[in-house]
Amino acid sequence: MSQAKHFQHYMLKEIYEQPLAVSETAHEKDASGRSLIERVPWSLDELKALNRICIAASGTSRHAGIAGKFMLEALARIPTEVDFASEFQHWPVVLGPELLMLVITQSGETTDTLGAMRKAKKHVGIHTKAGPELSVPSTKAFTAQLTALFLLALRLAEARGNISSEYAQQCAAELALIPEKLKSVLGMDQRCLELGHKYWKHEDFFFAGRGVHYAIAMDGALKLKEVSYIHAEGYPSGEILHGPLALIDDRVVVVVIATCDPSDSESIVRYEKTISNIKEFKARSGKVIALACQGDRNVEALVDDVLYIPAAPDMLSPILEIVPLQLLAYHIAVLRGLDVDRPRSLAKAVVRE
Ligand code: G6P
Repeated sequence: MSQAKHFQHYMLKEIYEQPLAVSETAHEKDASGRSLIERVPWSLDELKALNRICIAASGTSRHAGIAGKFMLEALARIPTEVDFASEFQHWPVVLGPELLMLVITQSGETTDTLGAMRKAKKHVGIHTKAGPELSVPSTKAFTAQLTALFLLALRLAEARGNISSEYAQQCAAELALIPEKLKSVLGMDQRCLELGHKYWKHEDFFFAGRGVHYAIAMDGALKLKEVSYIHAEGYPSGEILHGPLALIDDRVVVVVIATCDPSDSESIVRYEKTISNIKEFKARSGKVIALACQGDRNVEALVDDVLYIPAAPDMLSPILEIVPLQLLAYHIAVLRGLDVDRPRSLAKAVVRE
């Protein structure tokens, strides 16, 4: 008889609930058989009239928004801006029927995000199916948000005639494979613990990624600083050369997202540039942990450690990439003897401005 896994902390439990959170968000239907996105009461004319999207959110939800920008621009071809909810309130945004404002929030309680939402003229909701998230660091809510944003980008792209319905179905089929791939990523837990033992005493981390993967670098850094109180910064890989490179030496760990979708020429270009960035980090004696696709043998020779994840289309692999970074942050914090579920000074929902 199989026994339910016992989790020492909510954070770990919620990390392990991600295959379900993504699957439920991707496949949930209402009584009339409509998906999460199909039941949003938009007319086709409204969708076609859009020419701009503004995303406002805080913390991890804003990182989902950064990934969402890439999905919306790549698939639906609608220019998208992402702002901190706390700043959006002061942004003299020009409202009109051609603007879609998206606010993203796990709790629905963040004061800054609610303030940004009040700017919009008409409200509709898209509810992810991650279930309650109790641990302060956000994990399964994030991967569910990425799933919903991908579905939204597909819906907009199809409605506006940017992609064929066959291509939309192909993308939906790739999304349907993600929960099983997530389960295999969770199988790397032990390996993340080993890396935790190797790196938990380091005080400075950089996280680097290009394109949509930059959002994951940002969130990997946030997870680590939230739970372990280690100084961690997320950067677009190339931007590290513009200043932060001066900080890299043998005491600094750089976690580089070096996945590649060989069917996507843009992804190949990004991968090649990332490899060249890795060489720069190693030339400064930085310790480099790379996230690479299973079967990639180039990266291994260049870095200190590799975490292999299953291959997926470029816009979907972020859902897989964040998981080892969540596990690494979790194990490092536990090894440091910290309360991962209730980190000092932080709250699940920030209701002050
Ligand atoms: C707090 C939490 C973060 C969270 C952010 C946004 O800062 O500590 O983990 O990402 O709020 O929360 P929301 O509920 O609006 O997504």
